[in-house]
Amino acid sequence: MNCKKISHIGIAVTDLQEAVRFYTDGLGLPVTSFETVEDQKAVVAFVPCGQSNLELLESVSPDGPIGRFIEKNGGRGGIHHIAVEVDNIEAALAELGQKGYALIDETPRGGAGGAKIAFLHPKATGGVLLELCEGGHH
Ligand code: CO
Repeated sequence: MNCKKISHIGIAVTDLQEAVRFYTDGLGLPVTSFETVEDQKAVVAFVPCGQSNLELLESVSPDGPIGRFIEKNGGRGGIHHIAVEVDNIEAALAELGQKGYALIDETPRGGAGGAKIAFLHPKATGGVLLELCEGGHH
């Protein structure tokens, strides 16, 4: 497996406009894209920072993964996942599965920017939700 870099840190936010204001006006970072990711039931803004990105996610539905995360977190946002870029996500998933690590996604699904993404179970990763991603604008 070839892990290239931390692609992004996914941050669940309750108010995307307010969060974007902080990262642009406060930290002086750009926002490169806004899009709705159906699969995540979230509106997503990408904020590049050096070699990596911050992925700000605001839920558009209480029954989506971001909505449920915020509910469990007492109505507050927070770090939702960390994403590692790989060059062949199918091969990476097959290798991890073969090694017996717990996967949430056995096969990739569609993420922001046309990326292929898959989540690993926190019990395999030291307690964080880890996303593998390939391609897209990360
Ligand atoms: Co992500």
